[in-house]
Amino acid sequence: MKFFIDTANLDQIKEAQALGVLDGVTTNPSLMAKEGITGRDNILKHYVDICNIVDGDVSAEVISTTLDEMIKEGEELADLHEQIVVKVPMIKDGIKAIRYFSEKGIRTNCTLVFSCGQALLAAKAGATYVSPFIGRLDDISTDGLNLIAEIRHIYDNYGFPTEILAASVRHTMHIIDCAKIGADVMTGPLSSIEGLLKHPLTDSGLAKFLADYEKGNK
Ligand code: E4P
Repeated sequence: MKFFIDTANLDQIKEAQALGVLDGVTTNPSLMAKEGITGRDNILKHYVDICNIVDGDVSAEVISTTLDEMIKEGEELADLHEQIVVKVPMIKDGIKAIRYFSEKGIRTNCTLVFSCGQALLAAKAGATYVSPFIGRLDDISTDGLNLIAEIRHIYDNYGFPTEILAASVRHTMHIIDCAKIGADVMTGPLSSIEGLLKHPLTDSGLAKFLADYEKGNK
């Protein structure tokens, strides 16, 4: 299972990279705005800065919504760095753009996916990644994890190579449940990844080992 961090915050990306388990980064226009990254040039530079920190895929989202504009914008993003994956929304022109990019060898992440039908279309169009947003489904009393399981089943039925990127991960249990279901990738905040470290028996066990060592080596 690949671990992506879902942020545009460079310090958090550096911290996750330093942990040695990071496989990539996802961003979106809201996450860029949260970090105060505005203006086309600054946004493009920020993507390159992220690519220079991580060894792995960096999703950069188009803000256009028509085919011609998405193609122009996506090609500009892809030209920035070999690690860039063009993030395209699940709309009609988005599917056409994914097909176009796929034929050009430009990797894509189909975002804002909330149903099996959308995931099936993304795979048919040749998306590299499909991003079902599990946390946002949970927010409206719909089982986000069940969507991951259903997409896994459909993709396995036909051997689609599109990777299931569980997005909108909000906490550590989402990661564990996605791993059990067989999501290829998860993207979440640093706190959700660091939560995997924690167990009180690890803390108490280590404290005892260190105390016993101290006693024996006074
Ligand atoms: C995915 O690529 C999105 O950036 C993200 O996971 C959305 O998460 P949110 O629902 O917490 O905003």
